Amino acid sequence: MGLFDDMLKAEETLFRNDDALDFEFVPKVVPFREGEQREVVNSVKPLLLSHTGRNIIIHGPPGVGKTVAVKHVLKELEESDWDINLFYINCWKKNTTYKVMLELCEQLDFKFTQNKKIDELLRVVKGLLTGRGAVLVFDEIDKAEDYDFLYLLTEELYHKSIILITNHKEWIATIDDRIRSRLMPGVIEFKPYTLEEVRGILKERVKLAFQEGVWEDSLVEEVCRITHKFNDVRLGLFLLREAAMGAELESSPRIKRAHLDKAISRINSFMVKADSQLGDQSKEVLDIIKENPNKKIGDIFLVYKEKGGSMSYRSFQRKIKSLSDNGFIETKRIGGGKEGNTTILSFTKGKKE
Ligand SMILES: Nc1ncnc2c1ncn2[C@@H]1O[C@H](COP(=O)(O)OP(=O)(O)O)[C@@H](O)[C@H]1O
Ligand SMILES: [Mg+2]
Repeated sequence: MGLFDDMLKAEETLFRNDDALDFEFVPKVVPFREGEQREVVNSVKPLLLSHTGRNIIIHGPPGVGKTVAVKHVLKELEESDWDINLFYINCWKKNTTYKVMLELCEQLDFKFTQNKKIDELLRVVKGLLTGRGAVLVFDEIDKAEDYDFLYLLTEELYHKSIILITNHKEWIATIDDRIRSRLMPGVIEFKPYTLEEVRGILKERVKLAFQEGVWEDSLVEEVCRITHKFNDVRLGLFLLREAAMGAELESSPRIKRAHLDKAISRINSFMVKADSQLGDQSKEVLDIIKENPNKKIGDIFLVYKEKGGSMSYRSFQRKIKSLSDNGFIETKRIGGGKEGNTTILSFTKGKKE
């Protein structure tokens, strides 16, 4: 028997369109975020009247629709007749001022970037934008290693709206004063969805992604419940896909409880991102914490510095925060002692609840 003999044929798949389960997928409508999208629209509206736009910071926990809501607004703007430039940059991927400038040139179809320095690239961007408004979205802004680009763009571009997105409300307090006073951003909070809203979102995806009748209502309800518990719609999309793939592997025409249970048992490995997804600096810090368990944050910083680390204490604290938020490490505040309050760090294998 060949290894692939007992597989379902392509036309027998349980999926109708599995793209609809991709985390990057932008649906035609993004329900339950109408108010937030309206606020984003209001911030960019002045650009349509050739004024300068407002800047905003969007914050909220992971998987509550921040990215998809903003992308949806960008899509609508793109499809409208307004002549403005739209930029979307993920700072996890483009994490330095130089990379951001290169990316802006790239999105403007300017190819002759080789050997150009930051200020030359900025001049190119400015030149290509002359007279036109620009919406610049920087997603996962807290992942950027430096923020000079924010300073440069607020300073050098005239008609623009800058939209910053972060999972960490605390990041807002760390913005440099010189950038803050130029941005003067409005703040929009994305709160977690209610169970009813999670249901609305996931049921729509089930309709888009799967053939009719492959999901039982009670199993979808279970997915909604877990998704709501973890406050992260991505988790629901993951469970829907995993369970269906499990069913397909067994050539089952319907998804059964056992398939969902197996998918649920994989949640832990899903929630903890692989080390390999971390940037170099985070990995370096994580390795030090692994080697020095249950140490104070200040001591870990000293080891980091001894090893030649270049981050300031403030950036270091931000890295620690993000490692903790993503479930890589545990932090514990302790009081007292002669140095007052401090934080103890330890490596963890599972996501905190
Ligand atoms: N209101 C919504 N309607 C439809 N899909 C949503 C909604 N909110 C979140 N999603 C989906 O959930 C996933 C996570 O949303 P995303 O916007 O990436 O979250 P984050 O807040 O982390 O940026 C995405 O696949 C997105 O399409
Ligand atoms: Mg996002």
